[in-house]
Amino acid sequence: MTSKDIRKNFLEFFREKGHEIVPSAPMVLKSDPTLMFTNAGMNQFKDFFLGTQKAEHTKVADTQKCLRVTGKHNDLEEVGHDTYHHTMFEMLGNWSFGDYFKAEAIAWAWEFLTGRLGLNPEQFYITIFKGDAGDGLDRDQEAADLWKKFVPADRILEGDKKDNFWEMGDTGPCGPCSEIHVDLRSDADRRSVAGAGLVNSGHPQVVEIWNLVFIQFNRLSNGKLENLPEKHVDTGMGFERLCMAMQGKQSNYDTDLFQPVIQRLAGESGRPYGASRESDVAMRVVADHLRAISFSIADGQMPSNNKAGYVIRRILRRAVRYGYTYLGFTEAFMHRLVPVLVEVMGEQFPELRTQQDLIGKVIREEEQSFLSTLDTGIRLLDQLTEKARVEERTILSGKDAFVLYDTYGFPLDLTELILAEKNMRVDRTEFETEMQAQKSRSRQDAEREAGDWTVLIPGGNVEFVGYDSLTSDARIVRYRHVVAKKKEYVHLVLDRTPFYAESGGQIGDRGVLVHGDDTVEILDTIKENDLIVHVCSRLPRDPKAPFVARVRDSLRIRTANNHTATHLMHHALRDILGTHVEQKGSLVEPTGLRFDFSHFQKMSDEEIRQVEQEVNRMIRMNHGLEEHRTLAMDKARDMGAMALFGEKYGDRVRVIKFGDSVELCGGTHVEATGQIGLFKILRESSIAAGIRRIEATTGEDAEAWVYGQLDSLQEIAGEFEKQKDLAKAVRDLRADHARLSRAVEGFQQQMLAESAKRLVDGAEKLGAWSLSKGRVDIQDPSQLRDLAFRVKSQQAGLALILGAEVEGKAHLAVLLPEELHKEKGLNASDIIRDAAREIQGGGGGQPFFATAGGKNPAGLDAAMARAAALVAEKLT
Ligand code: SER
Repeated sequence: MTSKDIRKNFLEFFREKGHEIVPSAPMVLKSDPTLMFTNAGMNQFKDFFLGTQKAEHTKVADTQKCLRVTGKHNDLEEVGHDTYHHTMFEMLGNWSFGDYFKAEAIAWAWEFLTGRLGLNPEQFYITIFKGDAGDGLDRDQEAADLWKKFVPADRILEGDKKDNFWEMGDTGPCGPCSEIHVDLRSDADRRSVAGAGLVNSGHPQVVEIWNLVFIQFNRLSNGKLENLPEKHVDTGMGFERLCMAMQGKQSNYDTDLFQPVIQRLAGESGRPYGASRESDVAMRVVADHLRAISFSIADGQMPSNNKAGYVIRRILRRAVRYGYTYLGFTEAFMHRLVPVLVEVMGEQFPELRTQQDLIGKVIREEEQSFLSTLDTGIRLLDQLTEKARVEERTILSGKDAFVLYDTYGFPLDLTELILAEKNMRVDRTEFETEMQAQKSRSRQDAEREAGDWTVLIPGGNVEFVGYDSLTSDARIVRYRHVVAKKKEYVHLVLDRTPFYAESGGQIGDRGVLVHGDDTVEILDTIKENDLIVHVCSRLPRDPKAPFVARVRDSLRIRTANNHTATHLMHHALRDILGTHVEQKGSLVEPTGLRFDFSHFQKMSDEEIRQVEQEVNRMIRMNHGLEEHRTLAMDKARDMGAMALFGEKYGDRVRVIKFGDSVELCGGTHVEATGQIGLFKILRESSIAAGIRRIEATTGEDAEAWVYGQLDSLQEIAGEFEKQKDLAKAVRDLRADHARLSRAVEGFQQQMLAESAKRLVDGAEKLGAWSLSKGRVDIQDPSQLRDLAFRVKSQQAGLALILGAEVEGKAHLAVLLPEELHKEKGLNASDIIRDAAREIQGGGGGQPFFATAGGKNPAGLDAAMARAAALVAEKLT
């Protein structure tokens, strides 16, 4: 069965069991401070488990794109070396939100695997939770009994907390789980060694395939478990492993999910897959990482130097480096694999297909830049090993290895590999110490410690009223204390709030929470999953009091202007540049907007102006806001709404329409476009391969910008009072300036020539040498050097001492014939340092030429005399 059919069968099976099939949530997360990437199918349902939100459907199934490269679930180092771990993988899952529990979850899993897919029941082992004294939890007898209906008791094994109690992270929903393991060894192997002993032992053919989690607790930050109001089911099946079992393979990479990419790699590198362990590992690494990177880019996460972007960059570099070292790719190669990947996965994940061009371009640029760093790194490493060889060392310091790693992105194993070829090694302990120091530095930077929520209104609903109103009555539903960057804050959740929480690029509202004479500033509003969290400097004196929550309207109105202007501009860009323009990032603030979008060349001045004119035209049309608050997704599409890949939308969406601009958007907008006033683009630039950025502003900020420009223009015009054509006046002035500069330059050269002649003529003979000193008239201290070298070229064996006063400062120069330094040990640097004391300054240079500057021009003659004396002393 092909992977496409296997996926289809799964979704079909659970649809038949009454499940709603939902799309995968984005892999890159934007509004969960505890997670950067989706690492399990259940992430998008966290609020349903915790009971902070009600699910529309209580039975749901999907395939979820996951990435396990950071935090609690991190498989990165294994990937490629074994045959069944991945960075990005698909997790097939079925969920019950307070609906069915263990009995159905177990029975359906068994029916799907052995009935629908027809896998051999004897290949499976089951694990159940054996209990944990520390957490006060008993053995999961219920699951064991349920499994006994399908599986003989000797294939039901017990596992401890590590394997059979699933937790999403350090805090959050969790519960005991029951895993299904499959034994894919040959019949003969299975007969000779029982699989039971190989379960959870890292055997590549006896692997976990499906995890059924029975979510019933919330792990608090103090480590305690709290019962959840309802019981839920969260199952996750490794799709790639299921394909391996179904296709009779012994490695995920031998399935039709990976083989097309691997075969292309084999072709391009000229090394067949299976030829050597090293090149096989490299091909698996590349085939795996290509998926992680491409899906991230499709979700809007570009490789970059921080946070999620940096994680992606590192994954990409790991792949490039394996290709470079083991497959002989010294030039960018991964980007050429993108079309192959799109062929395999584009049907299920259309975001790959629509962004294929962009993904390829971004990967190519990243590859090229890393390959050139690799070159630099290799050269640096060569120098370091050469130095070590001269010093007869065979160990490279951990500090050096760390600099290579940190500054040049040069992985430790590559450093070690190259060193091994030269019979050298790295001081690993020192490297680790450096690494730990850096980790704790960045941890301190990012640190945010959140206490547990104190709930004042249990199960309290949260209502957002900010689309219609900027004030509302409110009560605090829950609060907690948070320390971020060493400052203390309080997070509040209100039962009703007009405060818009930062999302979709629009910054969070600010304002106040008032009760009587107690006014608490709301510094920011953020989203945590779907909770609206108000960030305050302190807790109100009486948290249980009734409050009035008031948004600062001046900020909100300007923000709305900029948000609506962003939509209009998005529309205009697609109109003028083409429909390949897609939003890649956006920031909407009171003072302006920033919009990143896919487009492959710099916009011309003409295009920028066209976009401005189009937006201003739409503003003047004074289109009213047409808002559809809860529209079904397909209706929204019919209206022509641009669905943005990488944004998480529920089944019902909000559509914002102004004239022809139609977008899915949760943000706040103007009543009618006329309110925006003037729209002005301030800058257009490139931020990554194929991604441009526009910064623009509106309303009074745009007017202020225009007035600023007009003021400068007027000031310039004032300087040319009688000229009508200002541009011509400036051009004439520049031409005049160029002519005069040339003339001045000529005079200066002439003066220098005269000074040089005077100095040569005035030289005093001192044995075989001669010495000349003089004060010269110059405009710029650098001319001292020109003059000195001019004299030097005219007269051999001449020691020269120059002094000049430029703009109230004293300048000195000493030039010695090189032989004088060699034969008599005279050093211009030493002389100038000594003499510069007279001008209250300092300086230095080389043994044969040095300069100094000082703040006391009155001491110039004395300084020159001192320098001359020091030279003369040695010459006579
Ligand atoms: N949450 C569980 C896992 O990720 C099952 O979906 O393994």
